[in-house]
This record gives sequence, structure tokens and C-alpha cells, in this order.
Amino acid sequence: MKVISATSELEVAVSFFKELGLTVGLVPTMGALHNGHASLVKKCVAENDVCIVSVFVNPTQFNNANDLATYPRTLEADCKLLESLGANIAFAPTVDQIYPYPDTRQFDFTPLDKVMEGPMRPGHFNGVAQVVSRLFDITKPNRAYFGEKDFQQLAIIREMCRKYGYNDLEIVGCPIVREESGLALSSRNARLSDSQKKTAVGISKALFDSKNIKNSKNVAETKQWVVDTINAIDGMEVEYYEIVDGNTLQPISDWKETSYPVGCITVYLGDVRLIDNIKY
Ligand code: PAF
Repeated sequence: MKVISATSELEVAVSFFKELGLTVGLVPTMGALHNGHASLVKKCVAENDVCIVSVFVNPTQFNNANDLATYPRTLEADCKLLESLGANIAFAPTVDQIYPYPDTRQFDFTPLDKVMEGPMRPGHFNGVAQVVSRLFDITKPNRAYFGEKDFQQLAIIREMCRKYGYNDLEIVGCPIVREESGLALSSRNARLSDSQKKTAVGISKALFDSKNIKNSKNVAETKQWVVDTINAIDGMEVEYYEIVDGNTLQPISDWKETSYPVGCITVYLGDVRLIDNIKY
């Protein structure tokens, strides 16, 4: 596996692959890789001639300086894992390589970015679109792989492709990978103590249990039940829980409104912000 940090070097490599008629798969990541990322990389390796994994903590998608500063950075371990998974290129650029000039582009994903993470993290999805479009322009992938844990992000990236001219590339959504306990894998879990990790299991447990009560409760009652159940656990505070139509991301008030209801949650455990979701 080659580790590349210069955009120009990667662009030369990509044109070479394209001349040879090889298919290119891209897995964009911010590093601190775990088994969730590994599942994306494995799929990418299996489905493409060349698998490129980007490892870049994108400053433009952070609206909280502390979150950016404390985001785990483990490039050496990441590269070892990527090599063992059969990735061909790890792209680990500096900020200047991705943004040689300040990126002033403004994307509009209305109404997808007006709910949930959108108002909670102003500018976040614009930053995600900036970096993902840059990565698409540099690597010209045939397929790009994203986890369903960031459910809203995945919907917004699909919309970015539809609206901003990336129609030829296939976005592949991959299921959430969980620990045996049910906890959704996340790079942020590295910031949890062992006892916090045990506490955090309460999030997925409440989501799974809420699937069983869905038949006897309406949408508002189910939402309230999830929020109350998690808030009752010492140390956890729900920021929001929305049950939305999985395609439009708009909140529903009646189960009959959609055949694809998805519950999306954000919870603070100490100062660690955890997200998860469940398909009802
Ligand atoms: O999901 C992530 O890790 C990031 O938002 C992404 C897609 C790599 C863009 O920085």
C-alpha cells in the first residue's frame, strides 16, 4: 500500500489507473479507524480494482474548536490496518493540500440539512460537502463508500451527487457496525472510559427496545419513551431524537406517513457526542 500526501501525486496515479481502464473505489474517512471503517474498506476492495482510503480530519466540518482539537489522530495504526485490509492507497493530505485556497463554496441541501444535525451543527454539512466534493474531484471514483451510522450525512452526499454533477459515481451505503454490546462503532468511542462505554450501550438498547413498542405506541409516544429511557441513565443526555422519513429526512407524526421510518438520535455522554439510528 502506498501512502500519498500530495494531491498532485494522487491525481497522476488516478489518471494512470483510468488510462488502464481500472475501476477506482474511494472510502473517505477522518482516520481513527475501527471495524466500521474496515467493513467499508473490505467492500471497496472487493468491488473495485483500486481502493483509495482518505484519512483527513476536515477542519471545515467542525463548528466546535474543541471537537476538532480532540478528534483522535492515529495515522500509523490506520495505515497498518488499511494495508492488512488490502487497500491500495492511503491518502493522508495536509489541510493545504485539500484547501490550497479557502473554500468559500456554499451548498444548498434544503430541506435535508434543515433538520437534526443541521441546526445543531451550523455549517457542518457544508464542510462535509466541501471536502467530499474535493475528494471526488481528486480521486474520480467509480464508487464511494459511506457508513449508515451518519444517516443524514449519507442522504446529503447522495443529494450532493444528484444536484452538483457527480451523477456517474455510485454512492454505496454500508450498515452500522456494532460492538457485541450493541454500541455503534465510532471514532469518538475512543474518548469514552470503560465505564462510559458500558453506559453508552443504553443508547442502542433503547433504540432496539423501541422497535418492539412501536406497535402499541404512536410516533410521539415512541420518541418520548426513547428520550426518557436514555435520560434516566446517569450521565447521558439526549440532544435530539427524531423519527423521520428515511428518504426526505422530514420528521413524521404518524407511522403511516412513510414506509421507511428511521429514528436518529444524538446523545451527550460527558462531553462526548454520540450518534446512532434505527430503521423501524
Ligand atoms: O464521516 C466522516 O468520517 C466524514 O464526515 C467524512 C465523510 C470522511 C468527511 O470528512
